[in-house]
Amino acid sequence: MRRLLSGVKPTGPIHLGNYIGALRNWLQFQLDYENFFFVADLHALTVRQDPKVLAERIREIARMFLAVGIDPQKSVIFVQSDVPEHSELTWLLNCVTRMGELERMTQFKDKAREGRERAGVGLFDYPVLMAADVLLYQTDVVPVGEDQKQHMELTRDLAIRFNRDYGETFRVPEPFIPEVGARLMSLSNASKKMSKSDDDPQGCIELLDAPDAITRKFKRAVTDSGTEIRFDPSRPAITNLLVIYQLLTNQTREEIETHFSTRGYAQLKNELAERMIEFLKPVQERFNSITDAELDTVLDEGCARARVVASQTLGEARRRLGVERKAMRSMSQ
Ligand code: TYM
Repeated sequence: MRRLLSGVKPTGPIHLGNYIGALRNWLQFQLDYENFFFVADLHALTVRQDPKVLAERIREIARMFLAVGIDPQKSVIFVQSDVPEHSELTWLLNCVTRMGELERMTQFKDKAREGRERAGVGLFDYPVLMAADVLLYQTDVVPVGEDQKQHMELTRDLAIRFNRDYGETFRVPEPFIPEVGARLMSLSNASKKMSKSDDDPQGCIELLDAPDAITRKFKRAVTDSGTEIRFDPSRPAITNLLVIYQLLTNQTREEIETHFSTRGYAQLKNELAERMIEFLKPVQERFNSITDAELDTVLDEGCARARVVASQTLGEARRRLGVERKAMRSMSQ
């Protein structure tokens, strides 16, 4: 069975952009692949975190995987730092990665804006850890939002280079980036993507938002000049709202435009809030019903299942590089 893997960083509450860009597609593919879904807590450490808050967020994200419908019978759910193979493979891959490749990463350039001298080495190395995440599981498909495209290209390049220089070791993965919703924008600024680390929480619908917060956020959402409600790339704010509407209702663009041809922005915002609240209600109920013990069982089992695969690939990479002393000795005997 083909393998699928993806992760979410616990740097803030999980939001609609994460759901639409990634988790929604995880669910869609869940039955067709052997799946690995994880909380990318080591990636969160690349920016300063409050340890107590981080520890809670890791559990919150894993709980949200279950709440949206990821089924631990069908998918391996785990926490990245529980599987030490991720860190070890990162080191091995560091040694085949070029500085120039990481210097070109736009996320590093954006995040290190305050100055390269002060940027953490972990932030620079972030994409290599991500490549290790993917390659450890011999992954075929990685469903992600558009912001991860460049990291996925590097992952492919590293796999191809390693295989060429040391022999066939890693499967070369493909990203899956959805056609609609690959880059959901902030509700308060349509030129910025919806993000966990946005300074303005009004721009971001969190999956755990209470109904009144959702209504308020949509009410205050920015719109473009004009009154027409149409999908139009030159009017990014209204198009962003319509994309959310499209994904919540599964209607075609034509149906939506016809529906709103006699209605105004206020109605669009009201309907969006209603649909969103209705969609999130069962997710939040499930989220609240999962006990700590249940969550720990899922994560413990997930870690054990993940390590079976991860340790096999890591062992192979070590052998290829010549740093697997015991296995090498028995091979030469
Ligand atoms: P993270 O935690 O920033 O985001 C999780 C997923 O959500 C997608 N996403 C969005 N999609 C559409 N619109 C948005 N506004 C939006 N914001 C976020 C992201 O593209 C991502 O798919 N580096 C990753 C985590 C990671 C990972 C991996 C993913 C670590 N290792 C290996 C896949 C495979 C990240 O920071 O995602």
